[in-house]
Amino acid sequence: MKKVYLLAIVLGSGILLASNLPDDIRLHLLQSPGAVVEDFQEPDYGLGSGHIDSLIAFPDVKKGERTPFDLWRYGGQGQTSFMDPNLPMSWEEWVAFHNNQKPVLMADVREYMSSRYDFNWAVYEGQYMSGGRKLIRRGPISRLPKGVKSFEELAKLSPEQIKARDIFPFKPLAHPLASTAHMVFPNVWNVVHPEHVRIDVDHDYPDEYLPEFPPPLFLTTHKEFGDVTKGKEVTLSNYYEIFNGLLTPEQMEGLKELLRPTATTWFNQTPHRVTIAPSAGVSCFSCHVNGHTNGAFELGPDSRPTLARLRVGTPSMRGNFNLMQLSSKRSIRSMDHFAEIEEYFDGDPGMMQHIGPRGHQKSVSNRMGDFNAIIDFPPAPKLGPMGKLIPSKATQQELLGEQLFWGKAKCGTCHSGPAFVDDYMHDLQVERFYVGRPEGPIKTFPLRGIKDSPPYLHDDRLPTLDDAVEFFNLVLELGLAKDEKEAITAYLMCL
Ligand code: HEC
Ligand code: HEC
Repeated sequence: MKKVYLLAIVLGSGILLASNLPDDIRLHLLQSPGAVVEDFQEPDYGLGSGHIDSLIAFPDVKKGERTPFDLWRYGGQGQTSFMDPNLPMSWEEWVAFHNNQKPVLMADVREYMSSRYDFNWAVYEGQYMSGGRKLIRRGPISRLPKGVKSFEELAKLSPEQIKARDIFPFKPLAHPLASTAHMVFPNVWNVVHPEHVRIDVDHDYPDEYLPEFPPPLFLTTHKEFGDVTKGKEVTLSNYYEIFNGLLTPEQMEGLKELLRPTATTWFNQTPHRVTIAPSAGVSCFSCHVNGHTNGAFELGPDSRPTLARLRVGTPSMRGNFNLMQLSSKRSIRSMDHFAEIEEYFDGDPGMMQHIGPRGHQKSVSNRMGDFNAIIDFPPAPKLGPMGKLIPSKATQQELLGEQLFWGKAKCGTCHSGPAFVDDYMHDLQVERFYVGRPEGPIKTFPLRGIKDSPPYLHDDRLPTLDDAVEFFNLVLELGLAKDEKEAITAYLMCL
């Protein structure tokens, strides 16, 4: 009795004290304010036209509405991370809306893509991706600006001149429908997996410029088998048969989890979806098919508002055992951690609750990491144990490419070691060449097996290896001659 009485007095006087205080002091008690520089003036960080004041404010679009293709020119704050699980209209209206919008959007996407790239179907005769079925596309196919006759002529201009004339051919590539965004699967995939066809948008690249499908799968533990799948896509119905007797039970369990579909934003059983029928969702291998990639793309989950998120193409999982830095900007440090968080992709725990969280226990994601850790790079028969070309197996052109790679072209500064990657993030400062929002530091990607994973760069903006070489020639201001660039591409195809 006494205790209760005492407590009442303490609480009562506390309330009395608080209510007697002036408002500003009371607020301070609730939430401590931070220091403020009264006469704040921003120093010039040299951002120039990449400064937020020079960017256009993001358009105020609703879910599903068209977004600009030149999103790099936009910036600012927008909607918060917490998306509403409800559609802005009824399901029937949502489907009807997209039935109207999609054909117009896709016609515009095709026109935009062919204004940027000359898809001329040229190939390197006799040069195949690792599965031996798909020829490597020859480039560069990024279109030269009007009035510029060659990439060599373009490379004579300074970044400032290129920016002033607005003629940079390698500007960022946006998700064609960034307001709903999320995964877009290539046509080859959708043909076999029609449950992933979207009602609102399709992939913007022709299949010919994407990785071979299904890609081969190589194991660090069974080099003698070559492609363990023998030309098959690994699925929940055949994985046991293919891998029984080759994997530990733990790796097998991990593989099964990499193949098991779970709900994700826009691919699930709720009306918050972009597929005509409700679906079980997607699995890791829906994008990283056979531990590689089918060229599906997404938006990076690392930034907000949604329209500021960068498009990201699916990287290969091959050789992840050699990487200390996973994902282009999030710098995730282990594959187990990756398996725990990935696939869902929006980095939004609120939405996750609505569509059904994956909620893997640590032991399960560890096993997914265990299988990931034995996915090998494809064979590179021209490379010796030190990762150098074996002279008797290489052509003069390939050897010249190797020499340039480590010398004049500086590639080896960032692409070194067994996976041809330094495991750092670099700010290539590409915004020196165009007016727009800087993309900031991005991780270096490995170049081992690189011929198998077009299109290139985090956002797929470079359709072929030749476009990638032209990109680095400009961005690093290397001044390479045409035959030198061709030699570097020839070398990249050996890695
Ligand atoms: C859209 C299809 C898609 C699905 C499904 C998917 N990923 Fe990915 N994955 C990506 C993309 C896109 C990236 C690049 C992300 C980034 O740059 O932030 C990525 C990156 C990765 C990386 C880092 C690779 C690197 O080189 O940095 C790993 C590891 C990975 N995913 C594993 C997984 C696992 C495990 C799952 C299932 C739990 C999964 N992914 C599901 C598309 C997908
Ligand atoms: C300063 C470090 C640096 C140098 C030097 C460099 N790169 Fe890179 N490279 C990167 C980074 C960072 C990325 C990822 C950039 C992105 O995705 O925006 C990358 C990506 C690539 C890619 C695309 C990889 C993929 O999976 O999509 C290719 C191809 C490539 N580099 C080739 C080269 C070549 C060829 C050279 C030399 C001419 C070179 N790089 C020089 C840092 C470098």
